[in-house]
Amino acid sequence: MTDARFDQKYKEHLQRKIKDLKDKHDAVILAHNYQRDEVQEIADITGDSYALAVAATKVKQKVIVFCGVSFMAESAAILNPDKTVLLPVAEAGCPLAEMITVEKLRLKKNEYPEAAVVCYVNTSASVKAESDICCTSSNAIKVVKSMKEEKIIFVPDKNLGRYVREHVPEKELILWDGYCVTHQRLTREMVEKTKKLCPNALFLAHPECRKEVLELADYTGSTAGIVNYVKDSNHKEFIIGTEKGIIYKLQADSPDKKFYLPTDNFICANMKLTTLGWVARSLEQMVYHVTVPEDIADKARKALERMIAVK
Ligand code: 13P
Repeated sequence: MTDARFDQKYKEHLQRKIKDLKDKHDAVILAHNYQRDEVQEIADITGDSYALAVAATKVKQKVIVFCGVSFMAESAAILNPDKTVLLPVAEAGCPLAEMITVEKLRLKKNEYPEAAVVCYVNTSASVKAESDICCTSSNAIKVVKSMKEEKIIFVPDKNLGRYVREHVPEKELILWDGYCVTHQRLTREMVEKTKKLCPNALFLAHPECRKEVLELADYTGSTAGIVNYVKDSNHKEFIIGTEKGIIYKLQADSPDKKFYLPTDNFICANMKLTTLGWVARSLEQMVYHVTVPEDIADKARKALERMIAVK
């Protein structure tokens, strides 16, 4: 058997095994748009951070296997204290979320006691617990607009914060110096070069990209925003300014359209840690069970539920 045929057989074997284990344990699989293709293939629900957080509150199954990174699984656990939330790979973290600590946030709050704190969902449960409201890249503008306070401490993504500031000039945003290490790798030069090579393509970017990259974008939005934009567009070619895992969904929805990445290196290593083998083990051994101390979870839940209530 050739390597490719063996790989295909092994993939199918693991996918069948996961399906059986899912039935046995009354589990549902949620996967972020950046997950490996074969993981997105077996997921019951795929989406952006916001859609997955909301979906987690609606599923009927007792067990949620969260194929994503730890802050996403943590949010699902906080919103659903009666369910078992599993993260297949314990080390799947988010470097951006690690760029802020609750102690540093408290110091910033002391500096600006009149300000409200809006935290990106890419944060730990303790940072959420110390914030007034959460936001994701799909609702950050709406969330900031909904605040009665004029001054907002926006943490921890400075690129998303700057993007929000441009759209909500009536608020004073105090930004944190955090960034997504994957999106930060994308430079203006890379995009300009790709635009020259693909002159008919529109450039779609995630708001975690640098300011000078967003200036070149025909559309800026969350991963779900990009997916919907492509589905609704009459255009046939797109340069994608976000992690390459999204191409799976884009191609599945629009097989007749073409997608170009401005760099081969557009990979979130943490998102790619989750493999079919780890998903199977997760269901076999019920690992890794994501739990959040009750006092922190209760406060963090308020920030998450307040975000979900913003219409
Ligand atoms: P989305 O909410 O757009 O899916 O983005 C999540 C994320 O972590 C981007 O790096």
